[in-house]
Amino acid sequence: MPEQTRFLLNESDLPRYWYNINADSKLPPAPVLRPDTLEPVTPDFLSVLFPMELILQEVSTERFIPIPEEVREIYKLYRPTPLLRARRLEQVLGTTAHIYYKNEAVSPVGSHKPNTAIPQAFFNRIAGTKALTTETGAGQWGSALSMACNFFDLDLEVYMVKVSYQQKPYRRVMMETYGATVFASPTDRTNYGRSVLDNDPNSPGSLGIAISEAVEAAASSGGKKKYSLGSVLNHVLTHQSVIGEEAIKQMDLANEYPDVVIGCVGGGSNFAGIAYPFLRENLVNGRRTRLLAVEPTAAPSLTKGVYTFDYGDTARMAPVVKMYTLGHGFIPPSIHAGGLRYHGMAPSICALYDAGMIEAVAVRQLATFEAAVLFARAEGIVPAPESAHAIRAAIDEALDAKTKGEKRVILFNLSGHGNFDMGAYEAYLAGKLDDHEYPEEAVRAAMQELPKVTMPA
Ligand SMILES: Cc1ncc(COP(=O)(O)O)c(C=O)c1O
Repeated sequence: MPEQTRFLLNESDLPRYWYNINADSKLPPAPVLRPDTLEPVTPDFLSVLFPMELILQEVSTERFIPIPEEVREIYKLYRPTPLLRARRLEQVLGTTAHIYYKNEAVSPVGSHKPNTAIPQAFFNRIAGTKALTTETGAGQWGSALSMACNFFDLDLEVYMVKVSYQQKPYRRVMMETYGATVFASPTDRTNYGRSVLDNDPNSPGSLGIAISEAVEAAASSGGKKKYSLGSVLNHVLTHQSVIGEEAIKQMDLANEYPDVVIGCVGGGSNFAGIAYPFLRENLVNGRRTRLLAVEPTAAPSLTKGVYTFDYGDTARMAPVVKMYTLGHGFIPPSIHAGGLRYHGMAPSICALYDAGMIEAVAVRQLATFEAAVLFARAEGIVPAPESAHAIRAAIDEALDAKTKGEKRVILFNLSGHGNFDMGAYEAYLAGKLDDHEYPEEAVRAAMQELPKVTMPA
């Protein structure tokens, strides 16, 4: 009998609930602090930036949070997403492992980001918000929120990291097609952007800087605009759980269960999305799946950062959280995986990593593109450079299984396609890409500026 490659669910299998890891991890959350006073934040402080429903989700310890019907209706444009067995990649590698991937690249904008953009736009809409601001690195998040704001009739201002704005002009056009306004960050529109440009007129920008600009634009709008973040926050990670919930059912259709689940990490949302439902199965049902987060060596917050309180953005306007950080002043080298250039990481991922419940590895840019090209030639999809980090780690797992003669079941999240990343592929194929060593000096300097929090870290 021919072997099955695609494992598909029906529209009726689309999850009705998001899964919240805070119900099961049993790790007491560290307080979230105001950036100005370093005292715990209050809902009043957060409500300048976010609608109340998202604030409640942020602090919720409910295991399951219902997905509103309006959101499920829009999810149906691309969900449930397919799970594939990468048989052709397995053959190329000659591995004894079975490799599966969840294909989030099939969303209209090409990544997992709409899974949270749609509910964030929805909850803002029903709270009466008229306009949002946000940042984007690679342009995937900006595209997703542009689409979602268009569906819910909200205006959107996007601060796009300048290096990505230059590398990916068509991402900007996509956002504009949905009706958003896009700026190359640092801009001269905000106090913070102007101060960065005064210091370095050629600043390539960073996610930390773009977040500061988008937060400032919302906070100084006199209540007219709210802010939306595409990763890091609990409610974002919770929305992404639809990936893992579907994958559990699809692995069942394949009659297998993963030994290891892999995702790339920028702020941590697609990794959490695929991994947390499997972590629940570990915690509640005694499964023993390894969960592996993959980051770039150029911005290795989990594997080289310090676990302490730090600002979420460069200008110290976003809340202070306990996380593995390279220092909020650290500007990662301009690697092509723009969405992974962040100095910190989602606090829940950091707490789980600290507790030994998840693993992390850092991979280099050239090895990552080598894996991306291998995958494209075997499976046909050109992956986003961010997702290629997960592919690198999945291939390394498959090769390790081959050496040991093991049948290892590997599941990774293909968080997006790279159809807008041809500049990166062109540079790689022309031999013009470099590996960026861990920028030790820059990190050491950034570490001098950590906030002086008096409560135990
Ligand atoms: C395709 C893709 N994957 C992964 C990421 C990293 O974000 P996160 O760690 O929140 O999934 C991004 C961010 O822009 C992205 O565009």
